[in-house]
Amino acid sequence: MTKLNWGMIGGGEGSQIGPAHRLGAQADGLFNLAAGALDHRPEEGRAYAQRLGIAADRAYGDWTEMLAGEKDRQDKIDLVTIATPNATHFEIAKAFLEAGFNVLCEKPMTMTVEEGEEIVRVANKTGKICAVNYCYSAYPMVRQARAMVRNGEIGKVRLVVTNFSHGHHGDATDADNPRVRWRYDPKMAGVSGQFADCGIHALHMASFVCDDEVEKLSADFASTIPSRELEDDAMVNFRMASGTVGRLWTSSVAIGRQHGFDIQVFGETGGLRWASEQPNQLIYTPVGGRTQIIEKGEAGLHEDAQRLSRVSIAHPEGFPLAVANIYCDLADAIAGETRNGLPTAEDGVRSMAAVHTAVASAQNKGAWLDARPPMFR
Ligand SMILES: NC(=O)c1ccc[n+]([C@@H]2O[C@H](COP(=O)([O-])OP(=O)(O)OC[C@H]3O[C@@H](n4cnc5c(N)ncnc54)[C@H](O)[C@@H]3O)[C@@H](O)[C@H]2O)c1
Repeated sequence: MTKLNWGMIGGGEGSQIGPAHRLGAQADGLFNLAAGALDHRPEEGRAYAQRLGIAADRAYGDWTEMLAGEKDRQDKIDLVTIATPNATHFEIAKAFLEAGFNVLCEKPMTMTVEEGEEIVRVANKTGKICAVNYCYSAYPMVRQARAMVRNGEIGKVRLVVTNFSHGHHGDATDADNPRVRWRYDPKMAGVSGQFADCGIHALHMASFVCDDEVEKLSADFASTIPSRELEDDAMVNFRMASGTVGRLWTSSVAIGRQHGFDIQVFGETGGLRWASEQPNQLIYTPVGGRTQIIEKGEAGLHEDAQRLSRVSIAHPEGFPLAVANIYCDLADAIAGETRNGLPTAEDGVRSMAAVHTAVASAQNKGAWLDARPPMFR
């Protein structure tokens, strides 16, 4: 396979997620970083792009310049990654899809449900891929869990419990730090703080592993640090289309929890547990049987888990390789092969609908509300 040309918007020097994309996209030699508008400061973006090896004429000052520069090139980019702050995702993704580019957008895909539905429509109309970086779904042992559920190995799923609760914004004396404060300011973050930031990873994970969709939810939001307008803690109960009961806790004030992302799935004949801090192990307990540890890379895994185990058994495998797995599936999808684990714009808009529904529920004493985007009702 010849290398695909790849471009990035955002993810400049010192950004949080930029390096994971660069490591991920280039881990398998599938993508060549050919173009970029990496920074909100044009000159810094151009200079950093060139330091990363991008040719000067493709080291752009902003995304509009990049779109104009790329769209008529013979060797134009096959994929663009959008790793800018949330409020910019919609207009960049829409413009690139409409111009015929495949897109990998960071989460949350958009700020509103209407924008999310528009992205789904544009992607469908243009036939271009719009994937969303729910990268935790690409860990091999998460794929194993999903395959076991789909294969009936734990029976019908009764209950899914998922948490994404850390303590990194729990220090009230640091609440005014500009890197923290914007996340709880509706002018910068939108309608939701912690749920839109981390909760949607957990909600996507529940849908992904259970192979099911969230239908309705009831939310309780709290801003435990009084200066915060948006929630820093949320408890969300939900029901899936098949009737599965869902519980989700997300928090940024859970001091002592580090990454704090885990999922447990309880079926009629067994249970599964996976935690992002021990990503190479899936814990499985058959009803009435002993608890077993299923290890990444061992014999007998389901095909998807085997395919995405990159380093041999017992060697650790981490976050950039989960992002790399998203890029592997994207390269296959660009080549026309179906990869049913790839998170798409439909997952992106379902998350936005869940965020807006959770906000409405929390403002309405936890009322149970339809969590599906109108286009999927
Ligand atoms: N999937 C995940 O697990 C995960 C993890 C972290 C962040 N994210 C998402 O990634 C996105 C970026 O987050 P981050 O933490 O890296 O932010 P950041 O603030 O650390 O970095 C943002 C980068 O984008 C650049 N930028 C800003 N506006 C731009 C514009 N208009 N054009 C070009 N570049 C621009 C900035 O200069 C900076 O380099 C967010 O949407 C966030 O939710 C996802």
